Amino acid sequence: MIKDKNIVWQNSLVLPRIRSNILRQEPVTIWLTGLSGSGKSTIAFALEKALLNINKLAFVLDGDNLRHGLCKDLGFSEEDRSENIRRVAEVSNLMNNAGLITISAFISPLAKDRLLAREIIGKSRFYEVYVNTSLDTCEKRDCKGLYKKARMGLIKDFTGIGSPYEPPIEPDLLLNTEILTIDQCVNLLIEHINLISKDFWPAHL
Ligand code: ADX
Repeated sequence: MIKDKNIVWQNSLVLPRIRSNILRQEPVTIWLTGLSGSGKSTIAFALEKALLNINKLAFVLDGDNLRHGLCKDLGFSEEDRSENIRRVAEVSNLMNNAGLITISAFISPLAKDRLLAREIIGKSRFYEVYVNTSLDTCEKRDCKGLYKKARMGLIKDFTGIGSPYEPPIEPDLLLNTEILTIDQCVNLLIEHINLISKDFWPAHL
């Protein structure tokens, strides 16, 4: 809901197709969801690099990073996580409108928030990718030492321990970093994007 009624939408004079033609790409959002430590950020930044290498303009929105700026006023209550995802979805949508491929890496634990993100970004350009590395593996990795803190009761609402994670029911792609290497994940993602933007993809891919 818009707070004030006296707000009127202003139209651009440029069609989205013009931007796509200049950039030679379809702007889509690759939305990576999964537990902390599942490999979302690693995959996201590797994909970003691989896309830039083939002249595709992509940008990563990462949970930890956005919580340093745009979302620094938010914590990890259900309400705050929803607001986090709403803001990120709005930014993803703007970046897609600007012609960029957006790679959004957020735990995004609740199905209703991911559904809202899909609606904000638009069904035709939202791709839900579930990084389904098991809790057991994420906890064993514990790259940031947060699982240990959560088990000690120092973080009460940590996802997978004191706070729920609702797995996507029909993700567009499943990536399990227990089985796949990061390169394999990136290749699968590129193949996936390739399907949806083959008009603009170099023939050798
Ligand atoms: S989300 O739930 O709102 O989507 P987001 O992806 O932005 O989360 O941030 C997750 C990151 O914040 C984790 O990778 C972890 O480093 C850190 N973090 C700190 N506290 C928590 C917590 N209670 N639950 C999950 N992650 C947390």
